[in-house]
Amino acid sequence: MIRPILIHPDPRLKKVCDPVAEITPEIRTLAADMLETMYDAPGIGLAAPQVGVTKRVIVMDCIKEGDPEPIALVNPQIVWSSEDLSTYEEGCLSIPEQYAEVKRPAEVKVRWLALDGTEQERQFSGLWATCVQHEIDHLDGKLFIDYLGPLKRQMITRKMEKLKRERARA
Ligand code: NI
Repeated sequence: MIRPILIHPDPRLKKVCDPVAEITPEIRTLAADMLETMYDAPGIGLAAPQVGVTKRVIVMDCIKEGDPEPIALVNPQIVWSSEDLSTYEEGCLSIPEQYAEVKRPAEVKVRWLALDGTEQERQFSGLWATCVQHEIDHLDGKLFIDYLGPLKRQMITRKMEKLKRERARA
């Protein structure tokens, strides 16, 4: 089921999300819905708070061509970050059509709980590394625009307020 995506500014996007105690059918449904919502948007990553659920769940698929590689990460934790940084032009489904360059560690090792209840660990690089850090930030109430200067951030926030007013009228 496709769920509506919250648009910034929204207090639910600023909350620190709760860890998931165990993988329940509800969590599996949430992850499946999030993947469907992400592919529909379309996007390469989505965090539970973006669909109004303040739980530590993210989904991603950074394969642009070829077979899809959907993954769902519950309680993801960065356990190692490279000193090398890389810069990507980031966007966010909660901040439509706004993009800005953000510098982050080029590689990260992440540990998480998979939907089958097993603990997983994987090293991410390239776009996957940027995406997983962006999504984990969402679980701590942080958006990519928080890395920008105050003027740029305010400009984007005003555009989003305007977009929300327009959508509310439509
Ligand atoms: Ni985002």
